[in-house]
Amino acid sequence: MEATFKPGFLKGKIVLITGGATGICYGIALGFLKYGARVCIMSRKLPNIQAAIESLKKESGSSEIYGTTCDVRKLEDIEKAVDYFIEKVGKIDVLINGAAGNFLVPFESMSANAFKTVIEIDLQGTFLVTKVVHAKCLKGRGGSIINISSTLQVCGVALQTHAGAAKAAIDAITRHLAVELGSQGIRVNGIAPGAIDGTAGFEKLTPEGGLSISMKETIPLNRLGKKSDIAECAMFLASDAASYISGQTIIVDGGAVLTFPNF
Ligand code: HXC
Repeated sequence: MEATFKPGFLKGKIVLITGGATGICYGIALGFLKYGARVCIMSRKLPNIQAAIESLKKESGSSEIYGTTCDVRKLEDIEKAVDYFIEKVGKIDVLINGAAGNFLVPFESMSANAFKTVIEIDLQGTFLVTKVVHAKCLKGRGGSIINISSTLQVCGVALQTHAGAAKAAIDAITRHLAVELGSQGIRVNGIAPGAIDGTAGFEKLTPEGGLSISMKETIPLNRLGKKSDIAECAMFLASDAASYISGQTIIVDGGAVLTFPNF
């Protein structure tokens, strides 16, 4: 990533990124590290955390990265993980809710448990982690929360009823908490990424046999997204440059929601 922002502009910020060991959230962690923040990541799988810490150190040149396991569906896990980070870094200023699970499934064959699982990871996970971090770190101090959603819920996408429902509700949480927590000096915003190249999510959500149309040609900016596109939006929203922005979910998709047909 080139120096889009002033080097060191995030120095002093302490960021917790759920799902930060892989995909889009790994890219966000890398961006924050490169610009001077201290970064905490959590993920369900220990090997993912260990590998991410090692490669984030190498890629960023920073050693200010901390990680632990956590299933965002479990309140006790979250309490334990947040306590671990507080012990390591003292506090959290910025929470990025990115942990998610997804798969393509037709509505008619989606089991109740399949729907529930994605709602619990994406939506309830966002709620629970926010609750714990607010109580332990943000209340009385202020800070910033960034919820990662998607563009699925904006136009309605086949095979994604479970994830679209969760992401729509996450966008609602962004607005509700922006109103409720604003007087505490807490800004709450969201990012809705489009198709981001090089992520498991993108691979998982491309239908078997591939797409019948060229995505690149359909996207107004004629390219897939990069992880750094999302990282840069997150860094802006977390920074003082966004100090009067709250309650907004920014779509970062090259304009794709305007033109992308369903599959
Ligand atoms: C139909 C499926 C399924 C599939 C799981 N299920 N995969 N149903 N098609 N491909 C059903 C199971 O049968 C089960 O229901 C229920 O979902 C729970 O499945 P488990 O495997 O027991 O759940 P779990 O082990 O907790 O795993 C969660 C997971 C998994 C979401 C299913 O894929 C996961 O851990 N994913 C994390 C990584 C991930 O998905 N990253 C991509 C995020 S991308 P039954 O009824 O059989 O008990 C993203 C981007 C969104 O979110 C925006 C895109 C533009």
